[in-house]
This record gives sequence, structure tokens and C-alpha cells, in this order.
Amino acid sequence: MKKVHLTVDGAAISVPGGASILQACRAAGKPQPTLCYLETLTPVNTCRVCLVQVTGSRTLVPSCSRIVEEGMEVATDSEPVRHTRKVVFEFLASSVDLSLVDAETREWMDFYDVDPTRYGPAAPAAPAGARDARQAGHHQVPQPGWAETVAQPAKIQDELFVRDYGKCILCYKCVEACGPDAQNTFAIQVAGRGFDARISTEFDVDLTSSACVYCGNCIGVCPTGALIFRSEYELRNAGLWDEEAQTVTRTVCSYCGVGCNLELWVQDNRIVKVTSPMDHAVTAGHLCIKGRFGYQYVQELGGPATTPIDMVLAAGREGGFVEP
Ligand code: SF4
Ligand code: SF4
Ligand code: FES
Repeated sequence: MKKVHLTVDGAAISVPGGASILQACRAAGKPQPTLCYLETLTPVNTCRVCLVQVTGSRTLVPSCSRIVEEGMEVATDSEPVRHTRKVVFEFLASSVDLSLVDAETREWMDFYDVDPTRYGPAAPAAPAGARDARQAGHHQVPQPGWAETVAQPAKIQDELFVRDYGKCILCYKCVEACGPDAQNTFAIQVAGRGFDARISTEFDVDLTSSACVYCGNCIGVCPTGALIFRSEYELRNAGLWDEEAQTVTRTVCSYCGVGCNLELWVQDNRIVKVTSPMDHAVTAGHLCIKGRFGYQYVQELGGPATTPIDMVLAAGREGGFVEP
């Protein structure tokens, strides 16, 4: 493909035509923060943390989706870029619980000296179901002195995964993975408008009554831990989740002949979650319900739970289908 020549922070680089500015930045050794971007999904430009400055452009542009052009001059560390990224991160962190974002995002937030507390103390969490009942055009009156948030109780409706939308930044990744980019089930979408927007099933029915087929592909792409294995959720709540004590073993799913690769996360001799490698040609990070959740047959579950991990996991299974 024809090469396109541009500069990134003054350094000349050439990349194949059709590449994004983000890809050019990475090729130039200039990684950028991203939240809504993933190599396996169509860019939707919702988070805005990857904005860069392009000479001659009226506004900052999202590097994850803007395609490079011949002669482009890109600045990733100018004052407008720094200021905008700081404010975007602050708006996100003041309204959403970002405690489970990855270490790289945390480093970027430190780099931009992000201080979400300057918008005031977090407003109290909404009662269960209150945000889901909001109607477009009927916005809540802001509470002076408080930073509005999306805090709300987690939705725990089954034994497989938890939807903790107090951690949702509305990046759309789950919607895309559930829809045309992977699963084509379309069980979830964005409902509402403005600050009331939220991820929802059709008519806000329980996940068990929706079109969801429990592939868990939405969990696999969620950047904030808003969608999380039930096992991880319970172990984190019990203070037992310990990634340093975990091993990750790559293997091949044993259910059918497709050959999906699995990553088994094991702690204290128990599988605590299953992911799939993004770089695998068969799965590109995606799985079906059997590959992602059907692992109990490889570990003994009968008899009384004796280890702390087993006790927490057993309590989660027995307390399944808890309404929020
Ligand atoms: S588990 Fe699969 S089908 Fe269900 S909401 Fe997530 S991506 Fe969609
Ligand atoms: S639940 Fe996760 S993947 Fe879905 S929009 Fe929210 S943050 Fe993004
Ligand atoms: S990563 Fe580019 S807009 Fe979110």
C-alpha cells in the first residue's frame, strides 16, 4: 500500500495509507492513552482521551479513528492536548468509579496530574434501578456542591457475570462486541440521553430474560471492570483477589473443533476467570459461553468448601440470581 508521510511531534515517519494517527504515533514510539479503542473493534470515538493536535485543524482530533494524510503535522504533547486530556480524565473520574482501570491508564492520569476532586464531593449513589428509569428529556436537576456521578448498586442477576455500571464510562465497546464486531446478538445498547445515558438490555429486562447468550465477549472488552466475572467480583469484595498470586495458562478449548485459545487465570489451584488472547486468529479475544464459563468440570466442586477462595466462590454460586 502507498506510504503516507507525516510528522509526529516533529519526527518524520511514513506509514501505510489508511493507517490511523494512533497507529502512526505508535509506530513513531509515541504511545497514546486510549479507553474506547481496541484493535478488534470499530473505533467509535467516545472517550476522547486520545485527542491530538493536527496543524490546520480547527479542533483536536481523535487519533484512534482519524486517518493519516500526506504532510500531516501531529502534536501529541502540546498545551491544548495536555489540558484537554486532563479535563477529559477528570470528568470521567469525577463521575465514574475508575478503580479497576489498567495500570497504563492510571499512569496517564498521573502524567496529566488528574484531580477529579476539584469538582466537589461525589453525589450519593442512585438507588437500584433509578438511573434505568430515567427518560430522555427529563433530566435530573443538578445538586449544587456535588459532582454528579453514575454510582449505583451493581446488577447481580446470575452466577456468571456482574454488571457494575457505577464503573461504566459508556465507551460502547460492549455494545460493539455484542453487536456487529463479534457476537451479532445485539442484546445491549445505549439507552437515554446525555448524562442519563446508560447501557441497557431491551426495555431494561434482566439479562437472563434478554437476548443475551452469555458469551461474555462484553466482559472481554470492558476497560473499566464494569463488566466482570462473578468469581472476580466476589473475590475482590472478599479482599482475596490477588493477581500477583495468579498464573495465566494458554490452552485450547476442549468443547468443539474450532480451536479457540483460552487463557486460564488460576489462583490457589482454582480457575478464577477465563479470557482469550487478542492476537489469536480464531478468536480475536472472543469466545462462546462454553469456552468462557464452562470450566467447572476441570476442578472438583463436590464436598464442603475448605479454602477461603472455595468458600467465596461457593457462596457466590449458592447466592446466585440475587436481585439488585
Ligand atoms: S454476554 Fe455476549 S450476548 Fe450477552 S450482553 Fe455480553 S456480549 Fe452480548
Ligand atoms: S460496560 Fe464497560 S464496555 Fe460497556 S460501555 Fe461501559 S465501560 Fe464500556
Ligand atoms: S480512544 Fe480515541 S476516542 Fe477513545
